[in-house]
Amino acid sequence: MRSQREIIVVGAGVIGCSIAWRTARAGHRVTILDPDPHASASWVAGGMLAPIAEAWPGDEEALRLGLDSIERWPRFAAELAEDGHDPLLRTEGTLLTGVDTADREVLDTLAGYLDHLGHPVEKLTGSRLRRMEPLLGPAVRGGLHMPGDLAVDNRALLRGLLAAATEHGAAHVPERVTEIGARRVRTEQGTVFEADSVVLAAGAWSARLHPELAETVRPIKGEVLRLRARRGSLPPQGKTVRGIVHGRPVYLVPRADGEIVLGATQYEAGFDTAPALGGVRDLIADAETLAPSLADYELTEVCAGVRAGSVDNAPVLGALSDGVIAAAGHHRNGLLLAPLTADRITEMFLEELV
Ligand code: GLY
Repeated sequence: MRSQREIIVVGAGVIGCSIAWRTARAGHRVTILDPDPHASASWVAGGMLAPIAEAWPGDEEALRLGLDSIERWPRFAAELAEDGHDPLLRTEGTLLTGVDTADREVLDTLAGYLDHLGHPVEKLTGSRLRRMEPLLGPAVRGGLHMPGDLAVDNRALLRGLLAAATEHGAAHVPERVTEIGARRVRTEQGTVFEADSVVLAAGAWSARLHPELAETVRPIKGEVLRLRARRGSLPPQGKTVRGIVHGRPVYLVPRADGEIVLGATQYEAGFDTAPALGGVRDLIADAETLAPSLADYELTEVCAGVRAGSVDNAPVLGALSDGVIAAAGHHRNGLLLAPLTADRITEMFLEELV
């Protein structure tokens, strides 16, 4: 390895923090620039690591990358825990449920596709699903069991990655980058930072920072709610529960501390991160259809974020024509693809490819 490189990472979401942690751990000198890590899509997210439940015909590249990255997740989580920051990986798996006939046809299409690719999933009746997860109500008519999908506490992960990166020597500067080049960036405050390499990992905002990403990366909004069981409520389910409810996707991701993350809408609204009433209404209605007992839960948080959508749902990784290294466009799979992305970027430095 070339002796210690100076690396600037623009963005402290899961991709930027994972790259910062891995490269700082490998001995590089790292500076992370982000005025507000809590504005990232990964802070808002549910924390599903779900290549199988997210699979869909035509998205074979996303499935291939997702399966590669999920294999890296147990080691990634264990190494972060060794560094003192356990991201609370959950291994109970996922149930994908449907309500009406059309929803169940969507599940059948997915099951057939996965079977064809050599990833068979078990089909379950509504009553079997209710025996597995008593929180599910009578509207649930059938589903699929995806035991290999994982989940993580995204906020424990993000706090842990940033803390571990700084403990390995990285510096976090809370300034917003407004100009970017291969070896230098300028912030809104007018500060100039110079380095051997600049990694652009600013999620959807990457599109505003580099002309080559302006056409390929775009913001895709999602509302997310956080709920908490109260005394006398049925406790949260053990597995991640996803649903197609009269055609609309919804998910319920349980946390060890009694929280459930309820997400997420998906639509284009520019960089708007204000939760809209219509999105919140749909999420609550669909969650109650799947699990009527959630009506007793406390609503603890309403938020919205913007995913970094990309043209073909695959991330942009590697040097752009001016030498800026892109790690953006992870769309719905930033948390899932973080270990693979961080490994790829770290290897590029190791092999001096960038
Ligand atoms: N990965 C789930 C979402 O983007 O809502």
